[in-house]
Amino acid sequence: MNQPTNRNARGSALFNLIGGIVILLATLYFLVKLATGGYQPGTVEESTRAAVQTRIQPQGSITEGDGVPVGERKGDKIFAKVCVQCHAADSNTPDSPKITHNAEWAPRIAKGLQTLFDHAWNGFNAMPAKGGQSDLTEQELKRVIVYMANQSGGSFPDPDAAPAAAPASGASEAAASAAPAAEGAKEAGAAGGEDVAAAGKKVFDGLCFGCHSATSAIPDTPRITHNDEWAPRIKKGKDTLFKHAIEGFTDKGMMPAKGGNEALTDDEVKAAVVYMVNQSGGKF
Ligand code: HEC
Ligand code: HEC
Repeated sequence: MNQPTNRNARGSALFNLIGGIVILLATLYFLVKLATGGYQPGTVEESTRAAVQTRIQPQGSITEGDGVPVGERKGDKIFAKVCVQCHAADSNTPDSPKITHNAEWAPRIAKGLQTLFDHAWNGFNAMPAKGGQSDLTEQELKRVIVYMANQSGGSFPDPDAAPAAAPASGASEAAASAAPAAEGAKEAGAAGGEDVAAAGKKVFDGLCFGCHSATSAIPDTPRITHNDEWAPRIKKGKDTLFKHAIEGFTDKGMMPAKGGNEALTDDEVKAAVVYMVNQSGGKF
């Protein structure tokens, strides 16, 4: 009766002993490992530093898929990713000069690279600043403008070939002074007769565009650059169109007086009419 119980007790004591030794050995093994390698404080520090750097780096320095760091991106690549949305050869964006359409680029190229750069850097009418890609550097923006212009009849020098220091500092100065410069240009434009066109374009872009854009879906609205839609209107003569634009006009559609903005002067509305007509086969 006693025997089995004793054997059981002895068995479990043995079991405990062996279990203890195994645990001790395992603990020793890990302690030794800890002391001799494996766990290197240096490595941890390093990987922590890298991880933190990744977490805190400015958003702009995250490269987008192609792995090319900010500042190193080439003109053709930036074009293909960003500017192509509005400047593609078959783009529908109104007024945007399309790549390889030399005639559309010629008057732009004539402004000179610095002006094109200022406009692309700061934005220009419907052209968003940096094309909306806010992390573009000055040099990158130059590259892509030169790329676009030179694909379209231009022959600007490679911005990377020029001595680095001069254009870079010139560009930041230009960027710094660009806002007042643009203002000045606008004022000069309003004063000079030649820039009725510019004033008209401004009013058009700010208001008339809403209904008269080249891609407008509003029925019975003559769309800019659609010469066929404008031809019968243009036949009515300049004064009639001025009157209709200023006072409003309803035939099949509804042209609100001054496009709905009573604050516009008659001259501003007239300038917008001239601009639209001359973009659409007319010669006012
Ligand atoms: C959302 C559409 C859009 C995107 C994206 C865009 N552009 Fe434009 N861009 C325009 C429009 C519209 C114009 C015409 C503005 C005007 O003359 O009123 C223009 C005009 C320009 C001009 C001529 C400015 C001048 O003074 O005549 C340059 C240069 C230019 N864009 C460069 C770029 C570059 C470089 C990119 C890409 C980084 C870009 N654009 C992306 C719409 C866009
Ligand atoms: C709310 C939409 C809308 C806006 C904004 C608008 N138009 Fe119009 N416009 C029309 C429609 C619609 C017609 C065609 C009316 C018709 O023939 O019945 C039209 C026609 C015209 C015509 C031709 C008139 C004629 O006798 O055939 C001129 C010129 C014109 N608009 C100029 C302008 C100018 C300039 C602006 C900006 C200051 C402007 N429009 C803004 C909707 C608009």
